Amino acid sequence: MSRATITTEFISPVPAVDPGGMNGLGRSKGAPALILRLIRAFMHGQWGLMALAMGCMGIVAAMTASIAWLMKPAVNEVFAGKDPAVLTLVAISFPAVFMAKGLANYGQRTLMNAVGTRIISRSREALYNHLQGMDIAFFAQSRTATLVSRFTVDLTLLKNTITTGTMALGRDAVTMVGLLVSLVALDLDLALIAGTVFPLAILPIVILGRRVRRAAKGMQSESGELDAQLLQIFQGIRVVKVYNAEEREAERVGGTIWRIYHHLMRSETVGASISMVLEILSGIAFAGVVIYGGQRVTEGNLDPGTFFAFLTSMFLLYQPIKRLGRVNIVAQEGLAAMERLFDVLDTPPGLREKPDAPELTVMGGEIRFEAVRLTYALGEGPALSDLTLTVPAGGTAALVGRSGAGKSTALQLVPRFYDADEGRVVIDGQDVRDVTFRSLWKAIAMVTQEVILFDDTVRANIAYGRPDASDAEIEAAARAAAGHDFVQEMPRGYDTMIGEQGVRLSGGQRQRLVIARAMLKNAPILLLDEATSALDAESERQVRQAFDSLRQGRTCVVVAHRLSTVMNADIIYVLDAGRVAESGTHAELLAKGGIYTDLCATELSKAEE
Ligand SMILES: Nc1ncnc2c1ncn2[C@@H]1O[C@H](COP(=O)(O)OP(=O)(O)OP(=O)(O)O)[C@@H](O)[C@H]1O
Ligand SMILES: [Mg+2]
Repeated sequence: MSRATITTEFISPVPAVDPGGMNGLGRSKGAPALILRLIRAFMHGQWGLMALAMGCMGIVAAMTASIAWLMKPAVNEVFAGKDPAVLTLVAISFPAVFMAKGLANYGQRTLMNAVGTRIISRSREALYNHLQGMDIAFFAQSRTATLVSRFTVDLTLLKNTITTGTMALGRDAVTMVGLLVSLVALDLDLALIAGTVFPLAILPIVILGRRVRRAAKGMQSESGELDAQLLQIFQGIRVVKVYNAEEREAERVGGTIWRIYHHLMRSETVGASISMVLEILSGIAFAGVVIYGGQRVTEGNLDPGTFFAFLTSMFLLYQPIKRLGRVNIVAQEGLAAMERLFDVLDTPPGLREKPDAPELTVMGGEIRFEAVRLTYALGEGPALSDLTLTVPAGGTAALVGRSGAGKSTALQLVPRFYDADEGRVVIDGQDVRDVTFRSLWKAIAMVTQEVILFDDTVRANIAYGRPDASDAEIEAAARAAAGHDFVQEMPRGYDTMIGEQGVRLSGGQRQRLVIARAMLKNAPILLLDEATSALDAESERQVRQAFDSLRQGRTCVVVAHRLSTVMNADIIYVLDAGRVAESGTHAELLAKGGIYTDLCATELSKAEE
């Protein structure tokens, strides 16, 4: 009974073909198509180097064959001992041939490395430029570390393929041809005996190669997974520890590590079995050659020099063939990386500029939402439905509402981080979807709900939007954002490194830095998503002051969590379930006694305490 259960478990249907796409292990594309595409995209201007490298490979091949050929006079002279001058000549030839081989080998290696490394650097650039142009929805659905691993794991494998792979392929294939020619030239009959065996080796190399590509793809996607897990865990290490999740996370990471191990082992095993098959086949080939060739030497039909030269050729042939068997493994890894590279490059950004889109012209900076509806790709229902509101030119509108009402979502539509499914967002009469991204983003300064800082100096963080800003301008922005004083007190002032995400700063200091950054940008439209985190009264007052000076003379949309911010607004929109439920000034709304009155009593006042 139990045996039966076990059996069913073992033969339980494992899909033989991967269901494509889901985990990046989809159907393999043709190798020639991939290679052609890589060449077309990244090979330009390198054919000269490539040709030189090929020339060097030819020399390596010729010199290797010469070594075998030198065996013939060497042996014959030793056994026959007729002319010592010939023997000396042969002896001198050896170092010359080896030196030429070494030099050519050096040349092809350096040249091929240059070609390969350039191709990789170009693909990294292309990958980066493409990813940077992707829309916010793409980044919301991808994992940062997995994107990063495309640059590191995948492209490192590809580099390995191009340099060692192509090199070995070029050099070893040419060497192999050279030696095969030498075998035929030395003795056709023996060559036929040796030659019948080696083609048999091609078959396992090809068949097993496919398995390697699958393993390589699995390895790459699992490595991306590992990177993602590590990044999350290290970033959230405090939570991992205090929630006692160390064991659980260790197990999860362990699982991934060992899945990578299995993928690696699979390609290693294939490599080893190819070597094994080659060893066995070589043994058989040598046996045939020794029996037949030896017999002919004893019969006097073949001179010992030719026989030795032939055996030497076979010995020399063994190395390149073995490496060629391995090359297929390296090639398959590279092909898998290429597929993954092109998969990303072929994913178009979800949002694009219209061809010949005009620039946005900001006059007063009036912003209108007209019956906007938006459903997130991975969201449940619509986040915004029939949202209509107007932010007067040069005025401030406050968006308030319960958590999840759609305030941050609405803000993201102004810089066109997402496109409305229905309705439109217009700035001074221009639909944000009709103008260029550059001109749109130039007009907007944004402070997001999550404070985003870079691992750089205070100065660089403030001047992020205007790297050419003068020290005086940076200081003025910091002053207006109520940040100059604390920056001055830091060990190196504006040159202090603030750490990843500004870890070396307090919450309030971080907020004031991002306000200073928005301040320095000096854009006509300001989008502020107030952070919900409570600040102490003093920081709160300073941040509010910073906000107030920031919105002077600009059109400002502020998602407000504090009553003080709300009360200063020209108009307040109360959002509920993605639409405007109430609107008016603070006094008007209070008089209504609706949602706003509730909010004032609960959410908004809370932050005031
Ligand atoms: N990237 C996303 N993908 C899917 N759903 C999302 C995404 N971002 C937000 N949502 C959903 O959209 C709705 C509106 O979210 P939004 O962030 O706009 O709320 P909010 O009003 O800013 O809330 P809070 O005051 O808590 O910041 C929520 O139901 C949320 O779950
Ligand atoms: Mg929000």
